Amino acid sequence: MDGLSLAGRTALVTGGAGGIGTAICADLAGLGARVVVADLDEEAARATAAGLPDAVAERVDLADPASIDDLAARAGRVDVLVNNAGVGIVEPFVDSDPASWDLMWRINLRAPMYLTRLLLPGMRGWGRLVFISSDGARAGSGGEGAYAATKAGLFGLAKTLAREAARQGVTSNVVCPGPTDTPMQRAVAERHPGLVDKLARGIPLRRIGRPDDVAGLVAFLCTDRAGYITGQTLSVSGGITMC
Ligand SMILES: NC(=O)c1ccc[n+]([C@@H]2O[C@H](COP(=O)([O-])OP(=O)(O)OC[C@H]3O[C@@H](n4cnc5c(N)ncnc54)[C@H](O)[C@@H]3O)[C@@H](O)[C@H]2O)c1
Repeated sequence: MDGLSLAGRTALVTGGAGGIGTAICADLAGLGARVVVADLDEEAARATAAGLPDAVAERVDLADPASIDDLAARAGRVDVLVNNAGVGIVEPFVDSDPASWDLMWRINLRAPMYLTRLLLPGMRGWGRLVFISSDGARAGSGGEGAYAATKAGLFGLAKTLAREAARQGVTSNVVCPGPTDTPMQRAVAERHPGLVDKLARGIPLRRIGRPDDVAGLVAFLCTDRAGYITGQTLSVSGGITMC
């Protein structure tokens, strides 16, 4: 199939050293992109980049706008931006601490806004924006009120950018993972024994997701073959969310 190559393109993936981020970096690299693996965990970012044919690791603290400024300056021209990094603090909303809301707002929503604002002007003629949200934001999820609120903000941002940037050849889409086997998910599962089995029983395809499941769609959205897909919100969740 033609139109799947990303040769000559540079892709920046935030949280590129995490579970889903590493898989996204690998798939984008597999299509020929040069990859910037941007993460708070510098050592893990280096390890991810070292396993790819053409990649660099960049440390960034997405909670800090000055650190995002530095990342954008070091990255140079970026054709594909995957705003993937995220943090989730799971607790009943009435017991939740506004300090944790603030952390999630800064990393999950403000950072994608801030970084996209810096990099989008450089995407002249061709570009791809992908925002990693969550099925928790589409459908609601117990204990994830503040997290879902920050992730739902990405829907409005991505759709607006799909309209504003269409004429400069840039598409903007949201991918929503369902429960996916990553360090983030395992941290939640450790505190709630039996959760993974319970989740899997409720998923039509009867298993929780793997990082590769998400990465395949993200990589496709970044190709020329997906050039007519913009402003969309797509779930990768084994059918748990159908809307
Ligand atoms: N795993 C799931 O079940 C699931 C479900 C729905 C949505 N998501 C979303 O998918 C995305 C990836 O999640 P994951 O499960 O791979 O998580 P993960 O915890 O495995 O990876 C997240 C990565 O983000 C990085 N990161 C965290 N804070 C950062 C900061 N301040 N600056 C820079 N980097 C930072 C971490 O170092 C880590 O490498 C997140 O946005 C998450 O909300 C995950």
